[in-house]
Amino acid sequence: MAKLAHAQWSSRMTFVLAAAGSAVGLGNIWRFSYMVGDSGGAAFVLVYLACVTLVGLPILVAEWMIGRRGQKNPINTMAELAANHGKSKAWALIGASGVLAAFLILSFYSVIGGWSLNYTLSSVLGTFNGQDADGISGLFGGMLGSPTTLLLWHTAFMALVVGIVARGVTKGLESAARLLMPALIILMLILVGYGVASGYFGEALAFMFRPDWSALNGGVVLAAMGQAFFTLSLGMGIMMAYGSYLGEDVNLISTARTVIILDTVIALLAGLAIFPIVFANGLSAGEGPGLIFVTLPLAFGNMAGGTILGLIFFLLLTFAALTSAISLLEPTVEMLEERTTMTRVTATLASGIGVWLLGVAALLSFNVWSEVLFFGLNIFDLLDTFTSKIMLPLTGLGAIVFVGWCLKRESVEAELGLSATGKNMWNIIARYVAPAGVIAVFITGLL
Ligand code: PHE
Repeated sequence: MAKLAHAQWSSRMTFVLAAAGSAVGLGNIWRFSYMVGDSGGAAFVLVYLACVTLVGLPILVAEWMIGRRGQKNPINTMAELAANHGKSKAWALIGASGVLAAFLILSFYSVIGGWSLNYTLSSVLGTFNGQDADGISGLFGGMLGSPTTLLLWHTAFMALVVGIVARGVTKGLESAARLLMPALIILMLILVGYGVASGYFGEALAFMFRPDWSALNGGVVLAAMGQAFFTLSLGMGIMMAYGSYLGEDVNLISTARTVIILDTVIALLAGLAIFPIVFANGLSAGEGPGLIFVTLPLAFGNMAGGTILGLIFFLLLTFAALTSAISLLEPTVEMLEERTTMTRVTATLASGIGVWLLGVAALLSFNVWSEVLFFGLNIFDLLDTFTSKIMLPLTGLGAIVFVGWCLKRESVEAELGLSATGKNMWNIIARYVAPAGVIAVFITGLL
């Protein structure tokens, strides 16, 4: 995002790709599938789908609208819009908490991005060929147990992110997304096909869509909502910053729908690819963050053409992780650039080093610091839980309350270009359903 030249996205398509580049990432494939497995399957999936529609969509629209009106970075935009509407400057805190959340998330995101890079190389080397479930689990366990391996790959991933952001070549990456996003979908479809052939597709379908409501509790609902925020890049001011580049003629609701459908389809395909492998090999769905790394290599190692498909898959996953990671680093870099005398390169390096250091603490929680717990969580889980279950929903809540209750109702309705029924629906959802939903989930989840 260029700071001064406030250019607009050349077309709606370019905007959708940029927003999808941030939204589609490890969250859809790595995090979605392991959360589904951890939280008992379909009940989680259905609550997640409800959250994406009833909370995610209005908040995405709200963040874009705030960004488009404010035309600045999230902190200044919120401060200025609030002042214009006679509201407290404290609304700028929403912007600030978004920047902090993005910083914290990138630290552990980069560790997983490193896993993906490592697995790309392992695919090329044919490491997975002919391995059984034990062999694949052993490889994964070996990686987790080695601080130096994790450190090496985390460092490599962060170096890529910093290199790209410092050189300001993010636009080039976004145009590459035009090609790579469809490629990712095709590859996921191939993997789903492999799942169908495995004979365990029915089990996977039932696991993901036939709910056992007894698995549902406040914690699962909160986890599903956290996942909705995480996967849509909400509650971080990131979508707000993107919105500041949006042309007046772009319809926010239909654009949000497109991005959300794309993001959700990729997540569901990931689940449908992974769970047949889990059931076919008697693996545990509740494996945790390692789920995709102990299932997919098993498939690649034992299917025809698996080496090349595995290579393409992990390359695409790494690429999707990179485009998201770039959008996660950008807010901190912009803040440093604007509030200090640092140049873009220095600001990027400083942010990158800060994130990297925190990431080192996160990766040590898989080995030497596994016993270092706060509130019963290791550092990795603490960073993930605190951001996705607390910071993102609260910041997103702020955005939707601001649009629903502080901006002039008529101007919001006019901007959304809604029919009479559409207006009513929007007002009910934005003013009541979404805020009440977030608050209710929050209270039940934390009790
Ligand atoms: N949405 C990204 C994903 O699902 C992660 C992300 C979160 C990116 C927040 C940017 C901001 O992987």
